[in-house]
Amino acid sequence: MASGGDGAEASGGRRVLVVGGGIAGLGAAQRLCSHPAAQHLRVLEATACAGGRIRSERRFGGVVEVGAHWIHGPSQGNPVFQLAAEYGLLGEKELSKENQLVETGGHVGLPSVCCTSSGARVSLELVAEMASLFYGLIDQTREFLHATETPVPSVGEYLKKEISQQVTGWTENEETRKLKLAILNTFFHVECCLSGTHSMDLVALAPFGEYTVLPGLDCTFSGGYQELTNCIMASLPKDVMIFNMPVKTIHWNGSFREGTFPGEAFPVLVECEDGSRLPAHHVIVTVPLGFLKEQQNTFFDPPLPAEKAEAIRKIGFGTNNKIFLEFEEPFWEPDCQLIQVVWEDTSPLQDTAPSMQDAWFKKLIGFLVLPPFGYVCVLSALREAGPFIRSVCLRKQHVGLTASHF
Ligand SMILES: Cc1cc2nc3c(=O)[nH]c(=O)nc-3n(C[C@H](O)[C@H](O)[C@H](O)COP(=O)(O)OP(=O)(O)OC[C@H]3O[C@@H](n4cnc5c(N)ncnc54)[C@H](O)[C@@H]3O)c2cc1C
Ligand SMILES: *[C@@H]1O[C@H](CO)[C@@H](O)[C@H](O)[C@H]1NC(C)=O
Repeated sequence: MASGGDGAEASGGRRVLVVGGGIAGLGAAQRLCSHPAAQHLRVLEATACAGGRIRSERRFGGVVEVGAHWIHGPSQGNPVFQLAAEYGLLGEKELSKENQLVETGGHVGLPSVCCTSSGARVSLELVAEMASLFYGLIDQTREFLHATETPVPSVGEYLKKEISQQVTGWTENEETRKLKLAILNTFFHVECCLSGTHSMDLVALAPFGEYTVLPGLDCTFSGGYQELTNCIMASLPKDVMIFNMPVKTIHWNGSFREGTFPGEAFPVLVECEDGSRLPAHHVIVTVPLGFLKEQQNTFFDPPLPAEKAEAIRKIGFGTNNKIFLEFEEPFWEPDCQLIQVVWEDTSPLQDTAPSMQDAWFKKLIGFLVLPPFGYVCVLSALREAGPFIRSVCLRKQHVGLTASHF
């Protein structure tokens, strides 16, 4: 963040502090460790463990991902993939050339089964037809990247405008037309999950194409995603990680002196909740956006430049929930991977947002079948939540719920 005095060389290198021990902070620390100038490196992590939003737990007799689940676009250009491969955390199929070459365009694959909310099976042909319509439109939205003007401000409005035009040409009976809209509604929710938003109306159209989709069929870690952050952490010198050390304020425009380094002035002073004050030449901040939104006024002293503060205020995010359901016996076919759910009588063209308290489950997009854990079978339901719902209680036993911010 800042750099100062010449005394650094005399006392043997620069003091660098990394705030946050998620994958971003660990990645930065790993890079710096191999740099001769960064001899005094510490990662200050608020909690008792590293990994942040990557957290794998042993539950139901297997490993479940409380946070991140997939490597999206696992191929050579993806640093997460490269690290995972280097540490030997991926299987043969995930490492294969064929897997790395698959071009998904960032679109989620078709489900194995699709059911309506009243339990009826939906024909997979109809789902495929709607998927091709929806993803065709998503591809179109990316074309506005270099346009000087967009027809509407958001991806959601664009999709709805195009869909309402298509609907006028649909010749099927009323029932099928309603079902097609309900299927499209599920695809809207899938896209919300991917974009980490509760409405595609909040995602700007013009820059949507900035997101680069890497080739490769999304893959998972059989031993849990957290093996990756554990491996990165194990590669760091022993005393680098400092746990249970929440940072309170970063004083970044000063000249701080400390008894242990006589004659040296540091441009940054990191003040922790427990009262510790750690001087540094450089600080790398990797705390989540939500934390910055809430704390930026007191977290930086002096405050960040207006431009940066405004960016923090303007960038948004949503909440993604996962619900794990445990069954003694599977009710699904052995080769089933994704059970998609279509909520009857929903439509992306309906503006009336149902009351969240009554209809929170209508944001469930489906159930992912986890590999069998010995004697139990687990489905992981994915939903994107509205801005008001932070946690949900379910009465059913054996239901684990996580609510985490992207
Ligand atoms: C439910 C869920 C599912 C996801 N699925 C996927 C997926 O399938 N694929 C994918 O690629 N990504 C996925 N993501 C996103 C991915 O997990 C994150 O992008 C990534 O883990 C963020 O890493 P980070 O290091 O930037 O932040 P974090 O992991 O949030 O790390 C920040 C760290 O900073 C610490 N911290 C906060 N405040 C302070 C403070 N004041 N002082 C010190 N330390 C502090 C926190 O404790 C935390 O350890 C998912 C996220 C969630 C929540
Ligand atoms: C940083 O400190 C210098 C010198 O005291 C001052 O001129 C400058 O305005 C400060 N910058 C900020 C952002 O406070």
